[in-house]
Amino acid sequence: MPAISFQSVSKIYPATSAQSAPLRALDGVSFDIQEGEFFGLLGPNGAGKTTLISVLAGLTRASSGRVLVQGCDVQADYAQARRKLGVVPQELVFDPFFNVREALRFQSGYFGIRHNDAWIDELLSSLGLADKANANMRQLSGGMKRRVLVALALVHKPPVIVLDEPTAGVDVELRQTLWQFIAKLNKQGSTVLLTTHYLEEAEALCGRLAMLKKGQVVALDRTSELLKKAASTVLRFKIDSELPASIRDKARVTGRIVQLPANSAADIELYLAAVREAGLVAQDIEIRKADLEDVFLEVMAGAQGGERVGMSADGPPLGARDPSGGSAVRAATSVGAIP
Ligand SMILES: Nc1ncnc2c1ncn2[C@@H]1O[C@H](COP(=O)(O)OP(=O)(O)OP(=O)(O)O)[C@@H](O)[C@H]1O
Ligand SMILES: [Mg+2]
Repeated sequence: MPAISFQSVSKIYPATSAQSAPLRALDGVSFDIQEGEFFGLLGPNGAGKTTLISVLAGLTRASSGRVLVQGCDVQADYAQARRKLGVVPQELVFDPFFNVREALRFQSGYFGIRHNDAWIDELLSSLGLADKANANMRQLSGGMKRRVLVALALVHKPPVIVLDEPTAGVDVELRQTLWQFIAKLNKQGSTVLLTTHYLEEAEALCGRLAMLKKGQVVALDRTSELLKKAASTVLRFKIDSELPASIRDKARVTGRIVQLPANSAADIELYLAAVREAGLVAQDIEIRKADLEDVFLEVMAGAQGGERVGMSADGPPLGARDPSGGSAVRAATSVGAIP
């Protein structure tokens, strides 16, 4: 039985004014997350990640489709499904009248758990909050509040942990502490669903990834497979003037830094020749392996609505290849410009 099963989940928000149209925030999202997976849900702002998590947590009703947590329907079986889930929300919501320990005890009580102090103490120390146990929630910094949200989500030892941007605004040290702790829980058997815009975190942590674009799954595969399918290398250099037209469309430009996806040495020679022929000088030339950010940008630039990379529509996604047998990511990018 999957830990989480999304089955044709759609969510339509009604029009907010007479002029606007209803918004399809989720459009037929279907995939399963197996027990014990560390799964990443990626997508640009507004892709529908938080909406999907809200439906999973029973905070928002899907317009159609269903979601199961360890076999329990999140609507028909709300209480049971909710108990199996520990959800760290993206928004910082907290009760200003409690101190940290009180908030954790109250949350334990909500789940009918008494005498939970040993686990609460472990959570506090694992999340670097031991010295804040008696601090009022109002007195905490933003990053500390986020740590408390993580502790609150875990207080009832849920088998399925859902983290919506848990490291936004969190310092490097806590990010490491947090990931060590979550990785330990995952090793002990917890299933983890994570959304993040820190793609290097997703690459390091997640065994499998789904990418959402405009409410649709546009990629779903093992992280290692997705990385294999991207352009294998990236040529990176700095330049002081505008790029020649012949390579402009393929380049990702950040200030003076230019990055170009390359599949072979010939590609790299071609790019550098184009720069030279335009009378320009490429400085600090580097060739690096493509990373998840490159894959993400390729998928987002290329995927059209309804297209899925790395899986068939309903089939088991593990290790699935695209049906044409070719590189699914490249197949997707061939319909649009590489950024
Ligand atoms: N309560 C709501 N009413 C109307 N529209 C909403 C509501 N909540 C979200 N939306 C819209 O649904 C779409 C998906 O939003 P969602 O918050 O799920 O995106 P996200 O992928 O989590 O983005 P981010 O990376 O910024 O957190 C957006 O266009 C958003 O404006
Ligand atoms: Mg969100």
